[in-house]
Amino acid sequence: MRRKLVVGNWKMHGSHPANAELLAGILGARPFNTDVAVCVPFPYLSETAVTLAGSELRWGAQDVSAHEQGAYTGEVSAAMLAEFGCRYAIVGHSERRAYHAESDQLVADKAKAALARGVTPIVCVGETLQQREAGETEAVVKRQLSAVIHTLTHCIGEIVVAYEPVWAIGTGRTASPEQAQQVHALLRAQLLAATPHAADMRLLYGGSVKPDNAATLFAQADIDGGLIGGAALKAADFAAICRAAE
Ligand code: PGA
Repeated sequence: MRRKLVVGNWKMHGSHPANAELLAGILGARPFNTDVAVCVPFPYLSETAVTLAGSELRWGAQDVSAHEQGAYTGEVSAAMLAEFGCRYAIVGHSERRAYHAESDQLVADKAKAALARGVTPIVCVGETLQQREAGETEAVVKRQLSAVIHTLTHCIGEIVVAYEPVWAIGTGRTASPEQAQQVHALLRAQLLAATPHAADMRLLYGGSVKPDNAATLFAQADIDGGLIGGAALKAADFAAICRAAE
């Protein structure tokens, strides 16, 4: 039985007062009978670590460098994230693939760098609307995951995968539970061919998850929780989504 995981992706939102209020709200809504984490902007990792220390809530980053250290201005290494107690790092979010031209191989290298420092990568895959309408969904997500499988080889069982159809992110347009499950089943089958641990791996769904649609999404056989954007910025909504995963 896989324990569900709900991860808040704050994206580029936050401020000292807003973060304090949000984290206090989430802490106050506990206990959750599910795993819960927040992925915050880099400058707020320190205060998040302090605020959540001693709780069962986890925290993480939204990106990580593929490099260990060196002359990479603006990059943040996995070793640095580990120093702040990060459990997770999102890699390959569609916004990074689109706005920062991250390739499948770079995403895989980032996942590898994170794992090497004990930070669990949450690897995002997903098709655009154009790709879905052209019937390319399966080929696209398989290609994206395949790069990670080949790069991580025997460690692939240690990652978290997030299926996030690009057309559902921040649009209010959610994949139907059946559409999401269909892709999750494909991803699970691809992972099963690569590792005996695939049955224990957590596959999250992301894209306009809200309190009113979370439960039906999370009830699908291969959906093990969610990666939550907009709704993760309101403590009450995020807590309700965590409850839906219990
Ligand atoms: P959304 O974002 O919940 O606002 O659609 C999800 C994500 O991008 O991770």
